[in-house]
Amino acid sequence: MTDRFSKMQQQFLCCYPVNKMSWSSVKLPMEWDEQKALIAATCGHPLNERYPVRTSYQEAFIKRLMQLLKDHEELHDDLFSSLCIQKDNNHGKDYAYKHYLLLQPDAHITLRESISFVNEGTTGLCTWEAALALADYLLQHSDVVKGKNIVELGAGTGLIGILLKLPALGLDAGQILLTDGSASCVQLMRENVTLNFPTAPKEAKPQCEQLRWDEVKDFPWHQYAKTDLLLAADVIYDDSQFDALIGALDHLYTSRGNCLEMLLASTVRNVDTLHKFMEQLTVHEYKVTPCANVSACASHFCRDHTAAVQIISIKR
Ligand SMILES: C[S@@+](CC[C@H](N)C(=O)[O-])C[C@H]1O[C@@H](n2cnc3c(N)ncnc32)[C@H](O)[C@@H]1O
Repeated sequence: MTDRFSKMQQQFLCCYPVNKMSWSSVKLPMEWDEQKALIAATCGHPLNERYPVRTSYQEAFIKRLMQLLKDHEELHDDLFSSLCIQKDNNHGKDYAYKHYLLLQPDAHITLRESISFVNEGTTGLCTWEAALALADYLLQHSDVVKGKNIVELGAGTGLIGILLKLPALGLDAGQILLTDGSASCVQLMRENVTLNFPTAPKEAKPQCEQLRWDEVKDFPWHQYAKTDLLLAADVIYDDSQFDALIGALDHLYTSRGNCLEMLLASTVRNVDTLHKFMEQLTVHEYKVTPCANVSACASHFCRDHTAAVQIISIKR
């Protein structure tokens, strides 16, 4: 693979919007061997051959490439054959794969995800922008997770917990417990953990359990290490869940003598909803600090940046 296509490869494998890809790296006219190299780096990538990204995405990518090339040169056969192969892949299925390539250091996360935003009554079966932003933040501030026992609330597909345990990143986090209120999410998370840690012993990979925020008191916490850090991404969108979430925080902070910090990443969709949650935090005597340098932090992931993501630290 030529370095020239490394960005496009990263974007393709995580299904970054086709119209926002780095098409400027495709220099026209594109020789046959260059066309072949681009197809090999994307549709023909071994990760995609084993765990294909969604069919409609691959089709859109190849059609966009054909459009770009059609007035300049003859199209390589591999473009047509890639288009045909896609038909047999995951067409009509609810799930497909995404591969999050970290270029520096060389590592990747493969996740099976729902191809729709809402599926089986939950929004957690695909990975959201706030999770990518929080993952980026943690990669930039590894001291925050080093040696810490971490619980993630509303963890969805499990991206952050998997990232924290990847040996190649050496983040050195303690025990990671990924939780979600949806049984479908927990099942998917477990599948994704197995996909990324096929042979690792229990302590070297995240654990996954069902935890609804209004049932936090009944959870068997004694079976897990004492929590040092809570994480959550994109869980502030439904104000009917605020009491349950604040109740869960009250229980967890009190049980840890308030020696607990939470990092909460939220996509700013509705300012009023976020504001309402902040007010509730203040009423419950939490101290909120915006995390410095969020926008400045270099992105290891292909992030869309269409909506701002706010990351705050919550202490009491
Ligand atoms: C928008 S998704 C975010 C998933 C993931 N954190 C991400 O950013 O990709 C919200 C998640 O919160 C979970 N959730 C919502 N209400 C919950 C509750 N009351 N208790 C536990 N989990 C809840 C959902 O099941 C879903 O997985």
